Amino acid sequence: MEEQQKSGHLVLVMAPFQGHLTPMLQLATILHSKGFSITIVHPELNSLNPSNHPEFTFVSIPDKIKESQLSDEDLADKLKESLVSNVDVAGSLQSLHKNCAAPLQKCLENILHSHHHTAAVIYDTLMFCAQTIVNELGIPGITLRTSSATTMLLFPVLPQLGEKELMSGIESPELQALQLQRLRALIVQNPTQAMMEVRAAFTNAIKFSSAIIVNSMEFLELDALSKAPKSVIYVSFGSIAIIDKQELIETAWGLSNSKQPFLWVVRPGMVCGSEWIESLPNGFEESVGERGCIVKWAPQKEVLAHAAVGGFWSHCGWNSTIESICEGVPMLCRPFFGDQLLNSNYICNVWKIGLELQNLERGNTVRTIKRLMVDMEGKDIRKRAMDLKKKAALRLMEDGSTSCSFNGLIKQISV
Ligand code: UDX
Repeated sequence: MEEQQKSGHLVLVMAPFQGHLTPMLQLATILHSKGFSITIVHPELNSLNPSNHPEFTFVSIPDKIKESQLSDEDLADKLKESLVSNVDVAGSLQSLHKNCAAPLQKCLENILHSHHHTAAVIYDTLMFCAQTIVNELGIPGITLRTSSATTMLLFPVLPQLGEKELMSGIESPELQALQLQRLRALIVQNPTQAMMEVRAAFTNAIKFSSAIIVNSMEFLELDALSKAPKSVIYVSFGSIAIIDKQELIETAWGLSNSKQPFLWVVRPGMVCGSEWIESLPNGFEESVGERGCIVKWAPQKEVLAHAAVGGFWSHCGWNSTIESICEGVPMLCRPFFGDQLLNSNYICNVWKIGLELQNLERGNTVRTIKRLMVDMEGKDIRKRAMDLKKKAALRLMEDGSTSCSFNGLIKQISV
């Protein structure tokens, strides 16, 4: 059977509740139609009947949930309520994980051993222990979020937001209509220790996953699914620049306090005396939550072309400068050496499509980011960046001056 499949093998880990089984089965069916062979791993609770799905291989793992006298309905009801009440559904989820983690690990090891081309393990976010296991096994973990994108993005951060921040930070009518203050009040009411641990485990699994599949459609939850257009600041200092620990810390707090979503490239070895980001300050991760992401390398041209990106904090290397111009992204300039100083002057003073970050003090960083990306004060800078993008695109068209010059060179060197 496996040999007949063109696209390889996938393992899907189900959560044992109807509202989770349905989307996971739908996903399995789609993936199977695309040529993947599918093994479905599931706890015993609420098991599906394999004879109804002969195209999939089913493997069950013991969950001991029935032994704990918790009926399916009871658990499902508690789960439904869990996001807005204090019931101890989190405790039930923890029991599920406690009971399932070891059997799941063994089961995944066996499956990987018997299949040579398992491309990934796709797990329901409720089965977050799967991510820890796949991290150890060195195979990509992809999480399936069966409920809305908004719950995934908002629920982890809502408890950390104060009333004022919530009111002032939300400009989108879509999010305003969701009555987030009321929702927040319900969520933060006496969270149990188990609830906090489960939330942290969810967030952690999502962070480590190679991809997130959300059972939704973009137009339904526009603000949640596409970061707001031009809201993300991309931070990268090219391939050579080095910073010290204090600069890392100040940059981190500047980004965190700006409240803008960010994607930050920190190359391994970029921070003097550190392997990677071990010297990030305590509390930074918690304060940033899902809003920020640090990576070792990013597909920069694609990132800059993304509609969600609205600013580029750059060292002003020439390639980065050209790439940013071609995508109309205004720049926050922090040159390090050599031509970067001249490039920064061009960006800030000649083309006027960026602002120089005069010093790294976090308050100054916040103000400069806001000015560049949000405040009216930066409107002209943002407009000029877009104008320059249009000019660049014209020069790159077939009969544009850049293309003509290049064609001239080709002619000259052609025999
Ligand atoms: C060096 C010098 O430092 C710079 O001053 C000079 O202008 C060119 O040579 P570098 O520092 O690496 O370059 O910066 P830059 O010119 O911007 O080139 C970096 C390249 O790496 C860009 O093409 C950028 O797209 C790419 N990159 C960088 C990624 O693709 N992903 C990353 O995460 C970081």
